Amino acid sequence: MVPNPSKKILFVCLGNICRSPLAQGVFQHRLMQQGGDFSRVALDSAGTVAYHIGKSPDPRACSAARASGFDIANQRARQVSISDFDYFDEIFAMDRANRAALLKLADPISQNKIRLVMSLLDPSAPFFDRDVPDPYYGDSDGFTEVVSMLDQAAAAWIASLSPSVGN
Ligand code: 4NP
Repeated sequence: MVPNPSKKILFVCLGNICRSPLAQGVFQHRLMQQGGDFSRVALDSAGTVAYHIGKSPDPRACSAARASGFDIANQRARQVSISDFDYFDEIFAMDRANRAALLKLADPISQNKIRLVMSLLDPSAPFFDRDVPDPYYGDSDGFTEVVSMLDQAAAAWIASLSPSVGN
């Protein structure tokens, strides 16, 4: 819990057990490395479907996180709720399918808060605007790739924030 957050960010995938928990973890890791006001950014994640509500992240996601020096084991899956569109300042979807699902749920004003997480990259970057691939039915390499992609997005995002985030 971040008291009096300067900015509130939500990451969204399908099940909220693989990609969006990793996104929350990677971005949190980067924010903590920056320290100071960057620690006042509040991050959360959710899924567009209800399949895994209450579950821990996939063990392969937990392993990929640990291998990169952060821990996501305490996160629990939840589904996106309508109140999220009011509460969060920005909502980052992992792929086009989940962005479309969010756009259907959101009111027209909140739709402006929704974007692809990989759109944070510079347009010249190889992964710019790409979908973060769903690793659920693949092997552990897929999870490593997800972490690598999200870490690039997190680095670009941090670089774009002012040192006094939220001002
Ligand atoms: P996520 O991955 O959306 O990155 O959490 C998936 C998790 C579960 C399922 C699909 C994708 N599933 O079909 O249960």
